[in-house]
Amino acid sequence: MRSPLLLFALFALTTISEAYSFENSEAQAAVCWESPTCGLNNKPLEKSIIKVDSTLLPLIITKTTYSQYYSNNFPSLITAIKENLILADPVGNMHFLKEDIFSETGFPLIHKKYVSVKDLKYIDKFESLFACFHYVDDADNSKHTAIGQLKLNKNIKNDKLQWDFLFDSNHKEVRPNSCAMDVSGSKIYFIIGTANEGEINHPIAQNKDNTLGKSYTLDITNRKVELLTLGHRVSLGVVARNDGYVWFTENGERGGDKLSYLIRNKNYGWPLKVSGTRYLQFTSSTNPSEKNNNKADLSSYIDPIYAWLPSISPSGLIELHDFNSAWDGDLLMGSLKAQSLYRIRLRDNHVLSIEQIYIGQRIRGIKQLNKEILLTTDEGALITLAVDSERLKLNSPLPATPGGQHLLYCVNCHSISSADVTAGFGPTLRGIYGKEIASQNFPYFSDSLKKVIGIWDEAKLTSFLLDPSSFAPGTTMNLGINLSKEDVKKIVDVLKTIK
Ligand code: HEC
Repeated sequence: MRSPLLLFALFALTTISEAYSFENSEAQAAVCWESPTCGLNNKPLEKSIIKVDSTLLPLIITKTTYSQYYSNNFPSLITAIKENLILADPVGNMHFLKEDIFSETGFPLIHKKYVSVKDLKYIDKFESLFACFHYVDDADNSKHTAIGQLKLNKNIKNDKLQWDFLFDSNHKEVRPNSCAMDVSGSKIYFIIGTANEGEINHPIAQNKDNTLGKSYTLDITNRKVELLTLGHRVSLGVVARNDGYVWFTENGERGGDKLSYLIRNKNYGWPLKVSGTRYLQFTSSTNPSEKNNNKADLSSYIDPIYAWLPSISPSGLIELHDFNSAWDGDLLMGSLKAQSLYRIRLRDNHVLSIEQIYIGQRIRGIKQLNKEILLTTDEGALITLAVDSERLKLNSPLPATPGGQHLLYCVNCHSISSADVTAGFGPTLRGIYGKEIASQNFPYFSDSLKKVIGIWDEAKLTSFLLDPSSFAPGTTMNLGINLSKEDVKKIVDVLKTIK
């Protein structure tokens, strides 16, 4: 007997896959990758696999790059119907992606002008896709944010599928900057973001009469909308945690990037009280009374649970379940500017720890699918993270090098994984043998080491490790001990094997 999952996959890939007649010409113009005979599907992909050691788990990270096949509108929105991965671009074109083949979903577009989909989630309980998007009203050019539901009922023929609008708000002349949402039970939690401050005495995000800079709940069953909170800037990630709390990230200016959770009726401060400073300034606030040298009472605003200095530009946010017991229950957050993942451990709604895992691309979308974490990036890659179970079983970052313990001293400062997650201490030692001296992506090389010309061969590594400051006077590597010739030989032999 066929499993229901397989049946659904077949349904999704065949029944609804007949092409739609798109009335929306703007939407049509955007893509080539949607057709099986153009772009992506016909060209070889670039794949690279790297191994990265996070603190608790060894990871295998696979990057598949599609960027050479389109110039804009990368499908950065990511969701899944059961096991079927869906990527969507901001216009709302949706595609299944299976084994590197894109195929059209055949799902209808949202028939509005200048649609920009900001968040997309499939919720099994409702057999529906939910989208939060911006559009412009044809009649009066007013700017809107809306939430749509696309019911994928198997009994509805594909040409009868249609977006149903559950919520619509009118921002008149002001363009919204973000909409992020999550669904919990029968409620959608969403934040409509604005980077626009408005007039100094009437900040937009503080004005209850408009929907910008506010968070809401929307009951899917009766469409009742309730204002939750105000004072938000640009949020790219909202997650309803299993314990019922709804967490979000927010992009500030310099150092104003924050992590927090929604508490009904509270004011999160933008633009009056922020955690960072303005761009190109050392001061932080536009608070009118502060300008008048009369400090206002800012205590009524909610402080973030955590704020990043310097800014990292947080993006998508998920809670991990059934991925690996070492990470389950933690939040995983993408970042644009820091090109990293952040694993955030919370305890009683406080941050216990944050681990940065460097990925090397601007991460936008994030989705867990079974034992994999999938990321979309601005560089046009789909990145997959999985636990390297072989190395985890061996409980060693270096399964192939039995002499790995000789490096025990070095790993105080160096990492031996591909991406240097300990950046700030020393450059990674993976692949160092044969590499040009002081050439890798590490911001803190000393001028003295940078002056040394050549590659790290046996002779150079040996003399550097025997006496770093004779080899490169002024080097910032201070071993603190004298290694014997025998030790150095063993260490160099191990370094040769860490490719
Ligand atoms: C106390 C911290 C510390 C320890 C311990 C340490 N290193 Fe270093 N290492 C550094 C720093 C900092 C640099 C960059 C030096 C510079 O720019 O002058 C460096 C640079 C290097 C480089 C050059 C990398 C490149 O890309 O050119 C190599 C090779 C190296 N270390 C090997 C080792 C080995 C092998 C050990 C263990 C025996 C070790 N280090 C222990 C801090 C350390």
